[in-house]
Amino acid sequence: METSVKVFAPASIGNVIVGFDVLGLAVQQPGDEVIVQLNDHKEVKIIKIEGDGGRLPKDTDKNTAGIAVKSLLRKLDSKQGFDIKLYKKLPLGSGLGSSAASAVAAVVGANALLGNPFSKKELLPCLMEAEAVASGSAHGDNIAPSLLGGLVMIQNNQPIQVRRLPFPKDLWVVLVKPNVEVLTKQARMLLKEHIPLNNVVNQFSNLAGFIASLYENDLELMRDSLNDFIAEPVRAMLIPGYQSIKMAAQQMKAVGCGISGSGPTMFAFTETQFSAQKLSERFQQEFNEINISSINYITQVSEEGAMLL
Ligand code: HSE
Repeated sequence: METSVKVFAPASIGNVIVGFDVLGLAVQQPGDEVIVQLNDHKEVKIIKIEGDGGRLPKDTDKNTAGIAVKSLLRKLDSKQGFDIKLYKKLPLGSGLGSSAASAVAAVVGANALLGNPFSKKELLPCLMEAEAVASGSAHGDNIAPSLLGGLVMIQNNQPIQVRRLPFPKDLWVVLVKPNVEVLTKQARMLLKEHIPLNNVVNQFSNLAGFIASLYENDLELMRDSLNDFIAEPVRAMLIPGYQSIKMAAQQMKAVGCGISGSGPTMFAFTETQFSAQKLSERFQQEFNEINISSINYITQVSEEGAMLL
């Protein structure tokens, strides 16, 4: 019997511009790695965190990885103990689903060591508990894609129900994370409680257009549909250079560009790796011009989501 596993859980793009709290897309890179080990002292412990600059709590009631694993044990009525080591590769407060990825990797690891009593989908409620603590509200658009891979639609929050949607495997994804931090909790507090009807109607059209583009494999329709009338207009002010990035993406014919989750990472889809490379360079240049350094990633959709390494 295995006593230790290493798990990778990928970053995810929450909202995918038109589906606030409803759509999330997993990407192949970057992602967090977690080692989960059985222990004999009937306790869940986070014994190591690397890559967080000392900022994440090791307290298992506060750290998303600990919360998710303890929730799994409660549901199974198990007293098994685990030692958890987190290797954070995802920047914190980036809008790439960093807290979700650690929780996903940890709970997938613990479930595997217990002989997989739960399917991946059955782990979602444990992860919702963790997400609620991390971001102040339980939304599934990071945990579900990071766990399951692909483009995921959140059909229902309580209880969490999700569905995979088709997504073109050959599209490229450019991610640019400027060196500013946005906390999801704060970015959510900015949002308006009431949205003008006109904006809601525009958003419905765009969401419907985006979903139709996936089933019809119509990149022009996708390009036209990827505009947000709900969250981005409010959150744009949190990202210096937001307008220049949007304009650069439009000039370079990206298939949509917007804020990843609650930001500050921005992303765009492109049709070729070459255009992804060019766009990534242009994004970096735009941030350089306003004296902000950035980290860029060029990647594609992750079909698998979290996986044992
Ligand atoms: N749907 C969430 C939000 C994603 O936009 O607040 C956070 O990454």
